[in-house]
Amino acid sequence: MKFFIDTANLDEIKQASEWGILSGVTTNPSLYAKIGGKLADFEDHMVKICHIVGEDVPVSAESTATTTEEMVAEGERLAALAPNIVVKLPVCEASLPATHALAQKGIRVNMTLVFSAPQALLAARAGARYISPFVGRFDDIGDDGLTQLETVVNAVKNFDYGYWEQEGGPEIITASVRTPNHVTQAALMGADIATVPFAALKKCVHHPLTDRGLELFEADWEKVKAQA
Ligand code: G3P
Repeated sequence: MKFFIDTANLDEIKQASEWGILSGVTTNPSLYAKIGGKLADFEDHMVKICHIVGEDVPVSAESTATTTEEMVAEGERLAALAPNIVVKLPVCEASLPATHALAQKGIRVNMTLVFSAPQALLAARAGARYISPFVGRFDDIGDDGLTQLETVVNAVKNFDYGYWEQEGGPEIITASVRTPNHVTQAALMGADIATVPFAALKKCVHHPLTDRGLELFEADWEKVKAQA
């Protein structure tokens, strides 16, 4: 499974990129607002992210458009910013024809806010390059986000869609990831990608037994030095 980072924070993106584990970046309006982003600077910010990660690493930039025509126009503009831009659109009646039109022009769409298998299947059929089912938000309402994810993964992987096959698409991005266990279970069920906020990514690096082992290692190493 590939790791994307779910952030608009350039320092976090740089650090994850330096770890050598980064296969993509996803952003959204809330994440951009969180770093104090302004609408006028949005496109420049996306370009900065694209430069940090390099042109082989997809960067999802979310459209603010609400009609099909606007989504297509904005999608074309965003895609022209850099070769690795992926246009992020929320699944809805307006975005399906927009996804279809953009796919036919060779522009990749990440269909987001997916909460069901039918939504995911429609996204794939319309030509989405990536499909983003949310996990944590199901947990927030007392549902089981991982079971919901598994349903989406199994349903989508049953079929071919005629789009993006040479690139291995459509790929499923596990989104709204909050914990290392979300990552573990997404990998076990065969989700292609997990997009993980930096704080959760850091949690994935750690384990209490690793941290304890490092403390013991340090203490033993001090003993060895004292013996020399
Ligand atoms: O990629 C979508 C993700 O950012 C949503 O996460 O934590 O707001 O549910 P969250």
